[in-house]
Amino acid sequence: MSLTVYAPASMGNVGVGFDLLGAALAPIDGSLLGDRVSIAPAISDVSLTVVGQWAGKLPGDPKANIVFQCAQFFLSKLGRNHGIAMTLEKNLPVGSGLGSSASSVVAALFALNEYFDRPYDEQALLRLMGQFEGQISGSVHYDNVAPCYLGGMQLMLDTPSQVCDSLPIFKEWYWLVAYPGISLSTAKMRALLPEAYERSVAIDFGRYLSAFVHACYKQDAALAIEMLKDVIAEPYRADEIPGYRQASAALAELGMLTTGISGSGPTLFCVTDDLSKAQAAKAWLDGNYIQPGLGFSHICQIDSQGARRVDFEESSN
Ligand code: HSE
Repeated sequence: MSLTVYAPASMGNVGVGFDLLGAALAPIDGSLLGDRVSIAPAISDVSLTVVGQWAGKLPGDPKANIVFQCAQFFLSKLGRNHGIAMTLEKNLPVGSGLGSSASSVVAALFALNEYFDRPYDEQALLRLMGQFEGQISGSVHYDNVAPCYLGGMQLMLDTPSQVCDSLPIFKEWYWLVAYPGISLSTAKMRALLPEAYERSVAIDFGRYLSAFVHACYKQDAALAIEMLKDVIAEPYRADEIPGYRQASAALAELGMLTTGISGSGPTLFCVTDDLSKAQAAKAWLDGNYIQPGLGFSHICQIDSQGARRVDFEESSN
C-alpha cells in the first residue's frame, strides 16, 4: 500500500490567543498551501526524498529532516523493521509563520499512523505531533499542529484527556495572508517577548481572548473583530518584521477589519468579509509587502478538514 497525506498551513495565535488559538488555512483559489508526505513500501530501511518549491531551504542530509526522524521514531516504537520510502513535498517556506514545521510533522505522523493501521488514537497522535514540532520551534505549543491536524479554529485546553477543541468560525470571513519572503525563527521571535507581563496586560489578554471566544459562540462578528487584539506578542515582534507596521496602517485604510501577525511572523494576516476588499488588499500587499519572487499572498478561508489522505483524490482524477 502507498499513500499520500496533505497537511494545511496554519496560523498560530490568530492574534488574540498567544499559544492558545490556531486556525488551518485553505486558499479560496484551491491552490496547495501545505506540505504533502507520501509513503511507499521499500525492501529495507527508511529513505526520504525531499521535493517541492521550498525543498532547497531544508537540511541537505535527509536524516536531519524532522520527517525522517518521525519515521525512525515510529518504527522503533512499533518494534518493526519495515522498509519505507518517504517523499516530502515541501510547499511551505520555513520560518514563515504559516506552520511550516507543523505541516511537515503532521503530514508525516498522520501518514505513518495510517500506513501502520493506526496504532495511535487522535489525542495520542496529536501529543506526538506537538513533541516533534517542539523540537524545531524550541518549545511545545499546539497552536499550529492542532489546527493543521484537525482543521478549523482550535482552542487549546491542555487537559489530561483533551489537547484542544474547535471553535465556531465566521464562515463569511476571508483571511488574507501575506508572506514577505524572509525567514524568521520562532525561537528567536519568542526570545523577544518579556519574561513577565504587567497585571493590566494579563487582564486585557484574558478579556480579549475570552470575549473573542464568546463572540464566536454568539456569532457576533463585530464583537469578535473588536476583541481580536494581540497584547502579548505583536508589540514586541512588529518592529522585527520589515514593513509590518506600514502594512497594517495601509490595510486599515483599505477597509480591512483587523491585521495581525500569523504565528511568530513574518507572515501577516488581515480579515474582511468583503471579497473585493480582500482582492484590493492582496494587490497592495503584492506590490508593497512582498518581495517579488520570494513571497506570496493568498486569500483564504478556514480549512475545516485538516490533515487528510489525498491519494484517493489523485487516483480518481
Ligand atoms: N504561538 C507560537 C508563537 C506560534 O507565537 O511563538 C509560532 O508559530
